[in-house]
Amino acid sequence: MTLLHNSLLLVAMCAGPLAAAAELPRIDWSGIEPGNVVLFHPGQSSYEWVRSKVHQGAHHDVKQGESCAFCHDEEDAEKEIGIVNSKGGRLEPHPIAGKIGFIDLGIQAAFDAHNVYLRFQWKTNGPNSQQPGPEHRYMRFDGKVWKPWGFSRLDQEVRDGQMQPLVEDRISIMLDDGKVADFAKQGCWLTCHDGMRDMPPQFPSKDGAINTGLPPIAQDAIRKYLPDSRHDPSDWKTRKSAREIARLKADGKFLELIQWRARSSPDVTPVDDGYVLDWGYVDTKKGNSDSNIGKNQLPQFMWNQKATGFRAIRDDGAVQNSNVSLIRGQNAVPFDPRVRWQAGDILPDRVVSPKVTKNITGTRAQGSWSNGVWTVVIARPLRPTGPGSKALAEGNVYNVGFAVHDDNVGTRAHHVSFVKTLGLGVKADIQAVKVP
Ligand code: HEC
Repeated sequence: MTLLHNSLLLVAMCAGPLAAAAELPRIDWSGIEPGNVVLFHPGQSSYEWVRSKVHQGAHHDVKQGESCAFCHDEEDAEKEIGIVNSKGGRLEPHPIAGKIGFIDLGIQAAFDAHNVYLRFQWKTNGPNSQQPGPEHRYMRFDGKVWKPWGFSRLDQEVRDGQMQPLVEDRISIMLDDGKVADFAKQGCWLTCHDGMRDMPPQFPSKDGAINTGLPPIAQDAIRKYLPDSRHDPSDWKTRKSAREIARLKADGKFLELIQWRARSSPDVTPVDDGYVLDWGYVDTKKGNSDSNIGKNQLPQFMWNQKATGFRAIRDDGAVQNSNVSLIRGQNAVPFDPRVRWQAGDILPDRVVSPKVTKNITGTRAQGSWSNGVWTVVIARPLRPTGPGSKALAEGNVYNVGFAVHDDNVGTRAHHVSFVKTLGLGVKADIQAVKVP
């Protein structure tokens, strides 16, 4: 155990210069008033649910485009919904033991000539809240084959106690520049639909996505989509033609989706930088982390024993908080199937790339955790570095939605916000202050 710890320390030290080289511009946050946004557990309140008669007295108005906050305007509205949902009830068939109903997300915002900066702070709720959640899924050798190891606390195997809960913490931001119909009023609920993973009804993932006619990259599951991308927004199978989707994209009728992940992002500052239109696209193809699962379900990479002292780590619990990533060009070498692998050896299911070659907006982030609190700063260029992303400018107001995945969960087991406004130098729910 001690040996393992020493080698992990060594790796952490090796990762140091990389992080330093990629520092974000320094902002003096002490003079910027922090705001607070309440994130709450939404359960399965989908686009379809908020328009259904079960959402008593609300479905007509919601269909007309009324804003959620118009009715849910009491001071503790979000907290109350979150607490009900976290404990179970009609919107949560699988309540997670100990799940909190809401999270207070502290937000500070600033901008200069180049970037808008968002600084988030929130308390983590890991197994003993003295730990952050930097661990993510692994592949484990069971003596014969390599199998995925570690899932979301929402998954059946974890609920049954057959599998470790292991999913990294995450913060996500949806950004609209006013072009997405109704986003200013109904926020993320436009994108979350029945049929998505962990939403009712469940579809075999392949079936679902293939039937929509989506491109190959999008065929693993039904994901977030905007109502405008369907002939019938409540029926994911009615996707518009590729030409119509391309037109919506060209007209800016998509949401940007920025995601900072605790596993990959502390090591490399570029964040997942995607968008939502007819699917939830994440820029992972050449992004900061790729699947480590290769041909025949074998890992593609293992650790370089010369650099780290080990090729794999063990599933004996030492892995918790080891905070050691498999990093291309640093400590990762091609997987060698001839090694005498032992049952219980584990390797990360992702490989991290410090140099992102294609990151649509050029958004970067830096995260740190201390005393039970994550602090994550995101720097989003005002002028995007590539096509297909939104330009931001002083004096404008944008619509934003936030989500935090906390305590080993994926998919919908997150905490989310009602839509908020972000003003660059102008009044808004979150006002970004101009800095030199
Ligand atoms: C016209 C008023 C109105 C609007 C607009 C409205 N709601 Fe509601 N909502 C209600 C009422 C009233 C209830 C409680 C009635 C009920 O239990 O169904 C409710 C209940 C809910 C619940 C369930 C809470 C629980 O305790 O189970 C959720 C979640 C919810 N609303 C989300 C939303 C979202 C998201 C939007 C925006 C897309 C929205 N609502 C828009 C009036 C509204």
